[in-house]
Amino acid sequence: MGRIVSSVPMWYDVFSLFYDGALEKLYRAPRAEAVAALRLPPGSLVIDVACGTGQNFPPLKAHLGDGAIVGVDLSKGMLRRAERRAQKAGWTNVHLVQSSIHEFGASHLETHGNRATADGVLCALALTVIPDWETAFQRCFDLLRSGGRFAIFDVFAEKRTFQTWSTELVSGGDTSRQVWKPLQAAVNDFEMTYLPGSPRVFGGRLYVATGTKR
Ligand SMILES: C[S@@+](CC[C@H](N)C(=O)[O-])C[C@H]1O[C@@H](n2cnc3c(N)ncnc32)[C@H](O)[C@@H]1O
Repeated sequence: MGRIVSSVPMWYDVFSLFYDGALEKLYRAPRAEAVAALRLPPGSLVIDVACGTGQNFPPLKAHLGDGAIVGVDLSKGMLRRAERRAQKAGWTNVHLVQSSIHEFGASHLETHGNRATADGVLCALALTVIPDWETAFQRCFDLLRSGGRFAIFDVFAEKRTFQTWSTELVSGGDTSRQVWKPLQAAVNDFEMTYLPGSPRVFGGRLYVATGTKR
């Protein structure tokens, strides 16, 4: 596992102990739809931003074949699970980097993905959690090659309910953020689709937003 910053005690290190057990089955179907919307051909290089325990890896690998995933996350605990997942599946081209996305740049992508820009960027349940998310979005968008695909899979709570509050309490996120807006402004072919899933379960509506970099 590559390492850019040292780990700080984090809630997600603790959450990693039960994250997959609590959430993997619940998000599996909408997550697969979101990954499919990236429309990445086999052999692509994709950055999985704040990859967590690697729940995106199975659907990503189904599309990428022998392409590569560079997963970046701040939490050592989450990455330990991701590493175990990749090892168990025998994937050799999954590269994990412990770093804040705010400190991850082209030189790191070159080191871990052998190229300075990626064919795809996936932000799954990430931009509603990452502090200073607009800057994080721009940093990730800059790492995408021209013609590359960007996908955001997240939750948006238009109306706040008890479930919104409890989901945010557990995730440390803010589901009132309209994190698709900078992508919408940056591409010509922006698409946003609400995915099946009750706000009573997810705290808001699940969606996937995609676009191709000009
Ligand atoms: C809700 S989890 C989502 C994990 C994964 N993307 C998924 O879809 O299951 C949010 C993740 O964001 C990570 N994270 C929070 N702030 C970050 C930052 N500044 N840079 C990188 N990762 C960060 C956390 O460690 C955690 O793994």
